[in-house]
Amino acid sequence: MCGIFGIVTEREQPLGPILIEAARRLTYRGYDSVGAATIRGSTVDLRKDVGRVDEVAARYNLAEMTGQRGITQLRWATFGEPSQVNAQPHLDSDGDIVGAHNGNVVNNVELRQLFMSEGLTVRSHNDGESCVHAVERYVNRGCSFVEAIRKAYDDLQGDYSYVVGRIDDDRLFAIKKGSGLVIGLGQGFNCISSDLPSILPLTRKIVRVLDGEIITLWADRVELRSVVDGSVIHREPETITETMDAVQKGGYPHFMLKEIHEQPQVAREVLHLLASSPEVDKVLDRIREARNVYFTGCGTSYHACLAGAVYFAQLAGKAVIPVVAPQFVPQYVPTLNAQDAGIFVSQSGETKDVLNALNAAETKGMTCFGLANVIGSTLTKTTAGWLPLCCGYEISVPATKTFTNQIVTFLFLAYRLGGRSTKELDSIPELMEHTIASVAPQVEAIAPQVNAWNDLYCLGYGSTYPMALEGALKLKEITYAHCEGMLSTEFKHGPLSAVSKGFPVLFAAGPEDVPLIVSGINEVTCRGGRAIVVGQEDSRLRANASDVIVIPGSNPQVASLLAVLPLQLLSYYMSVARGNDPDFPRNLSKTLTVD
Ligand code: AGP
Repeated sequence: MCGIFGIVTEREQPLGPILIEAARRLTYRGYDSVGAATIRGSTVDLRKDVGRVDEVAARYNLAEMTGQRGITQLRWATFGEPSQVNAQPHLDSDGDIVGAHNGNVVNNVELRQLFMSEGLTVRSHNDGESCVHAVERYVNRGCSFVEAIRKAYDDLQGDYSYVVGRIDDDRLFAIKKGSGLVIGLGQGFNCISSDLPSILPLTRKIVRVLDGEIITLWADRVELRSVVDGSVIHREPETITETMDAVQKGGYPHFMLKEIHEQPQVAREVLHLLASSPEVDKVLDRIREARNVYFTGCGTSYHACLAGAVYFAQLAGKAVIPVVAPQFVPQYVPTLNAQDAGIFVSQSGETKDVLNALNAAETKGMTCFGLANVIGSTLTKTTAGWLPLCCGYEISVPATKTFTNQIVTFLFLAYRLGGRSTKELDSIPELMEHTIASVAPQVEAIAPQVNAWNDLYCLGYGSTYPMALEGALKLKEITYAHCEGMLSTEFKHGPLSAVSKGFPVLFAAGPEDVPLIVSGINEVTCRGGRAIVVGQEDSRLRANASDVIVIPGSNPQVASLLAVLPLQLLSYYMSVARGNDPDFPRNLSKTLTVD
């Protein structure tokens, strides 16, 4: 999820150590490449490469860099492979402007062609370079820097922020559109960064930047302007008093809660990326013509595969076989041939069970694609093509934002395969925001009541069945209670005997499955059990359930995505109430690289 940092000082001075430390403090965001640039009079000193911060710093002696202005960037590859040329910062055509970005410029491919056709020197495939050229074009036409950034705003589609400066000047400029940006106000310097951890060792006086704002940084002052009309914006600085640990958690008590709240934004980013990704058609063309199609993963990623298979059937009329990775080997590998295709799904891209299945499938000639969060992971290097989940680092062991972006990606693919307009999916981020905000207080209030029980069930049907499994997995993982996820209709075939007075059963109800879910609810409540239902506003649910947690209206597939959000929150609040650390549950590891 890339990170940028820029600093302007009063006079030329050693900047290398400051840039290295700022980069180190952004590493939590995830990265594959590191770069730094300093500007001294008419000279730009640019050093960058693939690797860890300390490796690149040592290899290129970043510590010796001096200047009056400096920029560092950590890159997490999305456009262009991890390589030295794609690492950031980037220069403009004649090397007198330098800049770096964070985020995704989704029309990067088209922009690169435009820039080349206009005679600009494009050196990389990286969209950060497009930000620099987008500004360069207007500077070349005589615009002031702020004016050039305003004009470039209309050209650069997507969610991003960038910082840029030029030789023989004393300022850096930046803009925010979707990705984070904070200004730090110091004594004899000012700085700007994607996030606070790189700023706080230097100063605790900050100004938060909002979307659509252009920043000019001098060593002794900053100016914010609106990208819309260029007018100056006045904002009082604030002083940060929290500890660094609290700051890294973005003010949330745990990474899990932070990552739950990040879900709408990362959904927005992955939707933007998918809309412009050439990989989407490549994957779908192959799936369209394949004999059999398999979606394969483990744990949470397997639940996304299950949901993906439901969406492909319902939205595109395409049958897909979802299979948990280790079972794929004995059950399906013997039947595979080159006419088959599959998507291997993994947050880490390193899960051994998934890589074993992938290797076995490739040996049989199956076309294998990947869906992964960690770029540069084994999965992304060994598949015929892959799609990034665009979530940045997911620190908490329980997967949340990577799961919902797996779901969003499968929804997008199913819409596209079914010939539907993916524009309909643009409302997802707002629906997610609304859901999280509206359900959180009710879920927090229910959590202590459910916590009285150590055996639970979580039931769903159709597209909410995978969400019930996922809700149950989250509960098991971080509360240490037993929770079984199952198809709601299966409950009466045995588990119903567990119901006693007050026994809680969770339901995820899709809008088209309400009558069936109501039957399941009554089987529980007529035996004294408590039916807690997540679903859209519906008088039938209200009349029959013990508690209704209402999610906003949407179609059944999007509703299934929204239904998992209260279940994530419930597991979180229950875990915390039990005194557990939801981020690091006992016995578990984020990445399982063993059989
Ligand atoms: C999810 O909360 C779990 N941590 C776990 O089930 C995880 O999804 C599974 O181990 C697969 O990991 P992956 O997505 O990195 O392959």
